[in-house]
Amino acid sequence: MPLRNTTQRWGTGAQLLHWLILALIIAQIALARTADALPLGQGKLAMLARHKSLGITILALALLRLLWRAVNPTPELPASSRPWERAFARLTHAGLYILLFAVPLSGWMMSSARNFPVSWFGLVQLPDLVQPGKATFELMQSAHQLLMGALLAFIVLHVLAALKHHFVLKNDVLRRMLPLLGVLALGLGSAASGEAAALHSESEGSAVRFEFDQAGARSSGRFGKFQVVLDLGSRPATPGRLDVRIDAASIDTRDEERDGMLRGREFFDTSRFPVARFVATDIVARGADRYEASGQLTIRDITRPVTVPFVMQMRMEDNRQVTRMQGAVTIRRLDFGVGQGDWKSTNWVGNDVRVSFDLRLAPG
Ligand code: HEM
Ligand code: HEM
Repeated sequence: MPLRNTTQRWGTGAQLLHWLILALIIAQIALARTADALPLGQGKLAMLARHKSLGITILALALLRLLWRAVNPTPELPASSRPWERAFARLTHAGLYILLFAVPLSGWMMSSARNFPVSWFGLVQLPDLVQPGKATFELMQSAHQLLMGALLAFIVLHVLAALKHHFVLKNDVLRRMLPLLGVLALGLGSAASGEAAALHSESEGSAVRFEFDQAGARSSGRFGKFQVVLDLGSRPATPGRLDVRIDAASIDTRDEERDGMLRGREFFDTSRFPVARFVATDIVARGADRYEASGQLTIRDITRPVTVPFVMQMRMEDNRQVTRMQGAVTIRRLDFGVGQGDWKSTNWVGNDVRVSFDLRLAPG
């Protein structure tokens, strides 16, 4: 797993800092509670000294974490997240970062106010942050407790949100913060190893059709040869990449003369542009079994953005499990130069072409 973040995943650096800080906060609470239970004496002082040293360590790690965050990309939330969810995430993360500084700083100020200078594991003595004074000490003591309470409240919200992402929204937000072992424990081997499983279209049981208006009547045709590859990616609920290649010369409108013309210079010009291709890497879930793939469609030498809605379902066919993928999109042929010269006119051949597909996919 790479050290740095990508826009999809937290790298090892960010993960290490995130989970180390969680472990240290748990240790901090344990140390403070143990110290609290002890009578004033050597033991209590030793516990508190450790608590302070660890607390300063957390402060330094929080600073390092923000710096690391500033020089790394931040993984984006799933595109399907609603505005209030995004706002909530931003708010709780900002709160957590602020408290990650406020809690140790208030502890440090409390110690300075009590005239107990802070040392980091007996190695370095830190400067006092405030003048000693009983009132300041009491204020900072309450502040440390109150801020700690706020931190716990934010952590609870944060953990609930992480669990909602994993179990309710079924996206990869929790998994992408987990190291290899955690990902494996959550049962997603392929995401961890980075090799995504791919599904391939089978010519048997798959079809790509199109409909267009000709001379006031609806005509239709199909492409006989095509290859579709759907990479399942690391998100179990949403595929990662869709790659469609259509052999333009395999066009079939059940009229040889018309097919010949469609393969010719004025339409697909298949000797120069044999393949029409659609590649989408931005696939979002739009409800049960429904998705939208946004990508680039290339026909002839023209590439344009196109969004294709589709439905994907697992089914048993011929005693084995296959994935059915169905959808349709309307494109304007002239956007892609399909129709040159006189054929730019839409009087006899309409501009809108509805392309539909019904595919049977299986691991290839
Ligand atoms: C993120 C870091 C920290 C966490 C999570 C944390 C947490 C806590 C907690 C839960 C308590 C017990 C509060 C109570 O009495 O109910 C406590 C007490 C205390 N903390 Fe921290 N603390 C942190 C950092 C620091 C630092 C950096 C210092 C000083 C340099 C410090 C100094 C103290 C002291 C002196 C007490 C005892 C207060 C008393 O006598 O009532 N803490 N801390
Ligand atoms: C069991 C406890 C925890 C779990 C399950 C958890 C889970 C997560 C997850 C899944 C993310 C990634 C969110 C995303 O990819 O958009 C995240 C980010 C974050 N976590 Fe936690 N977390 C936990 C504890 C904590 C604690 C104790 C803190 C801080 C005190 C914390 C602070 C943060 C912050 C600030 C971010 C945002 C990172 C950024 O945008 O730079 N987390 N956490």
